Amino acid sequence: MKRIVVGITGASGSIIFKRTVEELLELGHEVYVCASEYAEQVFEYELDLNFRKFCFNLNSAKLHVSEINDMFSKIASGSFKTDGMIIAPCSMGTVGKIANGTSDNLLIRAADVHIKEHRKTLIIPREAPFSTIHLQNLLTLSQSGVYILPPVPAFYMKPKTVEDIVDQIVGRALDYFDIENSLKRSWEGI
Ligand SMILES: Cc1cc2nc3c(=O)[nH]c(=O)nc-3n(C[C@H](O)[C@H](O)[C@H](O)COP(=O)(O)O)c2cc1C
Repeated sequence: MKRIVVGITGASGSIIFKRTVEELLELGHEVYVCASEYAEQVFEYELDLNFRKFCFNLNSAKLHVSEINDMFSKIASGSFKTDGMIIAPCSMGTVGKIANGTSDNLLIRAADVHIKEHRKTLIIPREAPFSTIHLQNLLTLSQSGVYILPPVPAFYMKPKTVEDIVDQIVGRALDYFDIENSLKRSWEGI
């Protein structure tokens, strides 16, 4: 059983967060969730689902939800051991703040902690196009050991639905944490 922190920001792609949390819990892992203020708004807009209700309805003792301004949360400290952190989707605002070490909300602080402790940290950055500022901040994160997984479909797998595309991305994210899953199919050649 792994313990994974999953952050969500106000970037488009809330469904990636939803699928990640559902899959981790389904597989029996412990999940610590933190959502930015805008994440909750975009989640409701994109999925027609209230973020708090979604978490509540998961009805899992393995799900822990922290408030974005709760710096007393366990995940704000490096002494709380985890197996890593995923931010899905990650806005350019949050990318910039993490790259500059602002630590001014719990999600950004938790990412700062994971990076300083050299733990696996994966972000799914969502913006199009990327500006030079975005790319410089992403480079800073990559050079700090962050695994950058853009939500780019593997078209060669011939996805039929949005869910197929999301599963590919989430499967790849879980692979990075060595979490067995059946979401991502591997290319087996032709
Ligand atoms: C519907 C919607 C979609 C958005 N999509 C993106 C996006 O894909 N990428 C991004 O960087 N910002 C996006 N934004 C803007 C962010 O929500 C905004 O920059 C916010 O300040 C991010 O703050 P946070 O990182 O604390 O969540 C979107 C906003 C809305 C309302």
